Amino acid sequence: MRTQVAIIGGGPSGLLLSQLLNRAGIATVVLERKSRDYVLSRIRAGVLEWGLVGLLREAGAAARMDAEGHPHDGTNIADHGRMQRIDFKALIGKQVMVYGQTEITCDLYDAQDAIGATVLNEAEDVALHDVTSSAPYVTFTHQGVPQRLDCDVIAGCDGFHGVSRPTIPAEVRKTFEKVYPFGWLGILSRTPPVSDELIYARSERGFALASMRNPMLSRYYVQVPLTDQVEDWSDDAFWAEFRARMPAEVAARLVTGPSIEKSIAPLRSFVSEPMRWGRLFLCGDASHIVPPTGAKGLNLAASDVHYLFEALTAFFRRGDETALDHYSSRALARIWQAMRFSWQMTMLLHNFPDQTDWDHRMQGAELDQLFTNPAAQRLMAENYTGLPY
Ligand code: FAD
Ligand code: DHB
Repeated sequence: MRTQVAIIGGGPSGLLLSQLLNRAGIATVVLERKSRDYVLSRIRAGVLEWGLVGLLREAGAAARMDAEGHPHDGTNIADHGRMQRIDFKALIGKQVMVYGQTEITCDLYDAQDAIGATVLNEAEDVALHDVTSSAPYVTFTHQGVPQRLDCDVIAGCDGFHGVSRPTIPAEVRKTFEKVYPFGWLGILSRTPPVSDELIYARSERGFALASMRNPMLSRYYVQVPLTDQVEDWSDDAFWAEFRARMPAEVAARLVTGPSIEKSIAPLRSFVSEPMRWGRLFLCGDASHIVPPTGAKGLNLAASDVHYLFEALTAFFRRGDETALDHYSSRALARIWQAMRFSWQMTMLLHNFPDQTDWDHRMQGAELDQLFTNPAAQRLMAENYTGLPY
C-alpha cells in the first residue's frame, strides 16, 4: 500500500488532518488502534476556540456543529461563593463554541466516509520505519494480515500513549513535565445544565466545574485526590460534593439525576520537543498534554493540525520544505502560551495538599484582580477564547 501522508491515530487530530488534506487533493491513510465505536464512546473536551470552529468548516465537517453547537459569549469564575462573569464578547469581541469532542469525532468519521478516505480501525502493532529518510514506511497488522504502508510523510496523531513520540530517539527528545497532586472526577447526566454558561469554582473543599453539552445534557467535574477510584463515588456523593463547592444560589437550582458516564482523569502538563524528526511530525496529545482547567487540550491539537496542514500543502504542491522546517517551532510557540494559561488556571483554582496560608492569599489576591480589573479580564478572555494561529 502507498499514500502521501500516513496518519497514526484516528482521534480528532488525525481525522481533522486527514479530512483537510484529502480535500486539498493530498492522499492519506489513517491507522487507528481502536474500533470506531470505542473511539466514539470517549467523553472528553467540550469547549472549542473559534480557530477550531473555522477548521471544521474548512474541512466540510461543521454542518451539525453549526446547527447544534452553542456559541457562548462569556464564562463565570466563582470563588468561595462570589461569582464574576468574564464577558468575552464585550471585552474582546470573541466567543467560544460548546460542542462535544465526541460529536466532532463522529462528524469527522462521517465526513471521511463521505469523501471515501481510508481509515483503518483496529490496526494493530503499528511501527514506524526509516523516518529520517525520504521514503519512510509504516508496518501494522489489520484483520490478521501484516501490511506495509509506504509514504512521503508520517503524521503522529496517536495521543499521549502512542508509538510516534517514542520513535524519536530519547537523546533527541527533551521533555518538560508537571504532575498535579489531584484528578478530576467527571460525570455526564441527562439533566438541564445548572447555568447557561460554564462556572469554574474555587471553594475551600476544592475545585468544581459546571459545563454542558446541550440543554438536556450536563457535564460536571470535581477535583479529587489521586488515590480516589471511580467506584468510591456514588452519584449521591458526587452531587453532594458538587453542590457544596458551587455558590449557594447556583447549588439551590441544581437538578440532579443518574450519571450516564463517570470517570477520573489525572492532571498533568507535558511537552516533548521537538515535534519533528525527519519525516515524522507529531500533532496534539502525542506531543503535549495540558491540565483541563483552561479547556485547551483539543484546541491545541487543532492549532497543530492547522500549522501542519499549511506546511504539508506547501510541500506537496510546490516542493517547498520551509514550512515543514518551521512546523515544530511555530507550533511550540503557541503550545507554550497555552501551557502557561492552563497551568495558571490550575494553580489559581485548585486546593493543593501542601498549600500554605500564603498560597491561599495569593490565589485570593489574583482572583480579586480578575474580578475587578478589566485588563486582567481581557487577558483571560484572550487566552480562553484562543490566541491567534
Ligand atoms: P487522542 O484523542 O488521544 O487520539 C489519539 C488516537 O490515537 C486515539 O484514538 C488512540 O486510540 C490512537 N492510538 C494510540 N496509540 C496508537 C497506536 N499505537 N496505533 C494507532 N493508533 C493509536 N481536553 C479538554 O480540553 N477538556 C477536557 O475536558 C478534556 N478531558 C479529557 C479527558 C481524558 C480522559 C483525556 C485522556 C483527555 C482529555 N482532554 C480534554 C484532552 C483532549 O481530549 C485531547 O487533547 C484530545 O483528545 C487530543 O486529540 P488527539 O487526536 O491529539 O489525541
Ligand atoms: C469541559 C472540560 C474542560 O476541561 C473545561 O475547561 C471546560 C469544559 C467540558 O468537558 O465540558
